[in-house]
Amino acid sequence: MTQPTWPSLEAIAQAVRACRACDLHRTRTQAVPGEGPATARVMLIGEAPGAHEDRTGRPFVGAAGKTLDRLLNLAGLRREQVFITNLVKCRPPKNRDPRPAELAACRPFLRGQIALLDPVLIFTLGRFALQYFFPGARIGQLHGKPVQRGSRWIVPMYHPAAALYRPALAPVLEADFRAARPLVARLLNTQA
Ligand code: URA
Repeated sequence: MTQPTWPSLEAIAQAVRACRACDLHRTRTQAVPGEGPATARVMLIGEAPGAHEDRTGRPFVGAAGKTLDRLLNLAGLRREQVFITNLVKCRPPKNRDPRPAELAACRPFLRGQIALLDPVLIFTLGRFALQYFFPGARIGQLHGKPVQRGSRWIVPMYHPAAALYRPALAPVLEADFRAARPLVARLLNTQA
């Protein structure tokens, strides 16, 4: 099958909002395409929208989003600078894990967003986003370790929500984001 090429991030967002490729469209309130400047050099990829995101149509606006904002600051970043999206653009009922068919149906959107943004740095949040790039990889082994792929760096991180339900992970997440600060500064040509 030939892959669609997209003219713009807005075209992808419109296609996401109209999408009926998997059953999640039946239960969503709003699809959540992702947001951030088209000029963003840094991208964050989460798992799937939760309840707040489903209501507002925006990524990471609930409790995990507040944690994410704090973590971004530790890495020397602000939310307004980065493009934030998810692997799956519609909320799975009761926040269950996304199913393989849902992940597959949403893949062309994420692929298009990465192709258009061409970011120098991608933070993956949680094991599903990690496995988009590294199938079968374990987050417990790779978290916080930057991996270079051509001219792009991928930094796998635990999911910010993990710090909410496993408090022992909070300092690990903080240390990982703080440790990414020099890489962020180097890639963006800013002060660490
Ligand atoms: N968790 C995610 O993975 N994505 C969101 O947008 C919100 C919570």
